[in-house]
Amino acid sequence: MCISNSIKPKLKMKKTLIIFTAVVFCANGSFSKSINTGSDIIPAPVEFHICQYGFSLNANTKVIANINSSEYSVAEYLNGILCRFFKEDKPVIVKRDNPKYSLANSIIFILTSDKQLGREGYEIDMKKDKILISANDNPGFFYAVQSLMQYFSITPNGNNETKDEYKKYTQITKTACKIKDYPRFSYRGKHLDVCRHFFTVEEVKCYLDLMAYNKLNYFHWHLTDDQGWRIEIKKYPLLTQISSCREQTMIGHYRDYGKGEPLRFDGKRYCAYYTQEQIKEIVKYAAERYITVIPEIEMPGHACAALAAYPQFSCRRGGIKVEGTWGVFDDVFCCNDSTFSFIEGILEEVCDLFPGKYIHIGGDECPKTRWKECPVCQKTKQEQGCKDEHELQSYFVRTIEKFLNTKGKSIIGWEEILEGGVTGTATIMSWMGVNGGITAAKMGNDAIMTPENYLYFNWYQADPKTEPLAFGGLTPLDKVYNFNPAPDSLGAEVQRHIIGVQANTWTEYITDFKNLMYMDYPRTAALAEIAWSKNLDYTDFLERLQHTTPLYQTMYGGIFSKKK
Ligand code: ACM
Ligand code: ZN
Repeated sequence: MCISNSIKPKLKMKKTLIIFTAVVFCANGSFSKSINTGSDIIPAPVEFHICQYGFSLNANTKVIANINSSEYSVAEYLNGILCRFFKEDKPVIVKRDNPKYSLANSIIFILTSDKQLGREGYEIDMKKDKILISANDNPGFFYAVQSLMQYFSITPNGNNETKDEYKKYTQITKTACKIKDYPRFSYRGKHLDVCRHFFTVEEVKCYLDLMAYNKLNYFHWHLTDDQGWRIEIKKYPLLTQISSCREQTMIGHYRDYGKGEPLRFDGKRYCAYYTQEQIKEIVKYAAERYITVIPEIEMPGHACAALAAYPQFSCRRGGIKVEGTWGVFDDVFCCNDSTFSFIEGILEEVCDLFPGKYIHIGGDECPKTRWKECPVCQKTKQEQGCKDEHELQSYFVRTIEKFLNTKGKSIIGWEEILEGGVTGTATIMSWMGVNGGITAAKMGNDAIMTPENYLYFNWYQADPKTEPLAFGGLTPLDKVYNFNPAPDSLGAEVQRHIIGVQANTWTEYITDFKNLMYMDYPRTAALAEIAWSKNLDYTDFLERLQHTTPLYQTMYGGIFSKKK
C-alpha cells in the first residue's frame, strides 16, 4: 500500500496543540548542531537547529512588518492565515515603529542582505518571545512562512471550515528552532494535464497551495491535446465550441482489451475549458504564491482537438475528431504559413494571459506520416532546404520560437525538439530519460529533468494489483526520492545548464481530484525535496512525511468534502 493511505491524520480536537520534537536538546546554549531530524519541514532545510525552550503561537501573536516594505504583502498573507487558524479577525499587522505594540509575542519580518540566501532563501530565528524572519526578497519571506506553517502544523486554509476538529485551537506550542534555508534548483516544477481530464478553478488553486507549501515555483499547465482544448481563445471561438468537447471516452486500459477486441466507450460527452477570466484568476493566485504558470500549447502534434474545429490547418483538411482514446495520432498541424498565422493568433492571446517568461510549445510525439504524404508540407520542406521531416519540425519550432521571442518570451519544448536541430535559446524538457537533457546541457541549452521512469506520477506507485488503474510503469516514492537531476559526474558546466526538475501527471486514468491527490501525494513531497534540498536522507524524509501528510490531507480534504 502506498504511504498516502497508510498515514492517518493525527490532528484531533484540542484546545492547545503541543508538539515537542523528538530531538535531544542541547545541554548548554540555545541550540544544537545542525540536524534535520525533527524539523518536520519538507523540503528539508539547509540548516536546522533546535533550541532549549518552547515557542507558542496564539491568537494574540502579532505579525510585524514595515508598512511601506514590499514584504508587507507576505506579512499580510501570514497574518490572514493566523487569523483564520485562531478564528480571529482582528488586524495583527502593525507598523514596526508603532509604539502602541510591544515586540513580544510577534513574528517580525526583517529585510536583509545575505548573498547566500539569494531571492528565495530565508532565515528563521525563534527567540523566547518572538520569531525573526529574514530574507533578501519576497519569495524568501514567503518560503519562510511555508516552513513556519509546516513546523507549527498550520495549513494555508487555516482552520478547515468543513471540519469541526480544526476549529478549537487557541495556542500551538513547539520547541523553538533556528533555520537557514535556500534552494538547490531555481526551477522546481509540477505539471498537470487538464486535457484528458479537467480540474476546476478551485481544484487548481488547491493544487497551487500544495505546490507552494512544498516550495515548488513553476506550474506547467498542459492546456491543449488531442482529447480536448481547455483555454478560451477569443479570436478562434471554435476552439471552445468544438475543440473543448469529446463525444465519449474509452473505458479501461488498452492492455485490458484482447487482440482485435473493439474498444468500449462511456457514451458521455466530455466538455470543459477555462475562460480567460478564470485563467487570469489562476495566474494571479499562483503569482501571489510565487508560482509562475507555464502554459503548454501543443504543436505540431497532439493537436487533434484544435484540428477538429479548424481542419484547414491539418494536412488532410478534414476527417479529424476530438479524440476519445489515448495515444499518439497521425493528424498534426500542417507545416505552412497559414498554420503559423493561426498558431500565432492563439499565442498572441496566450502571451497576454501569462506574464511569465516561458511558453511551452510541446513538440513531443509528432508522427511524420502526414507530412511525408502532404504536398504542402513537402513544398515547405523543399523551400526551407530541410533534408528530412525532423528538420521540417525544427523549422516549425524555430518559426514559432522567433514569433514568441518578439513577444519577449522564451520557449520550452519536450526533448523531441532536439531532433533536426534546435536554437541555443530553447529550454529542453527531458522526459524519455535524462539523455535528452544532458545532450541539451552539453550544447549550452538550459534543460529541465523530468524523466518518466522517475518522475511520472501517472505511473504506478506500488504493486498494480493493489492500486487504482494507472498508465503503467512504476515510480514508487523511494525511486522519486533517489533521482538526482544533476549528479556531480556531469561536471560543473553541464550542471549549470540543468536548471531544475519537474514531475508530470498525465490524466488519462486520473478522472477526479481525489484520484489526482492519491497519485501526486506523497510523491510531490519527494519531488520537492530533491528540487530544493541537498540534505537528502530517505529515512528522515519518511519521518517528516508523517508530520506533513495530515497537513496535505487537511488542504485537499476541504475540496472533497465540499463536493459531497
Ligand atoms: C510526453 O510524455 N509525451 C512528454
Ligand atoms: Zn501538411
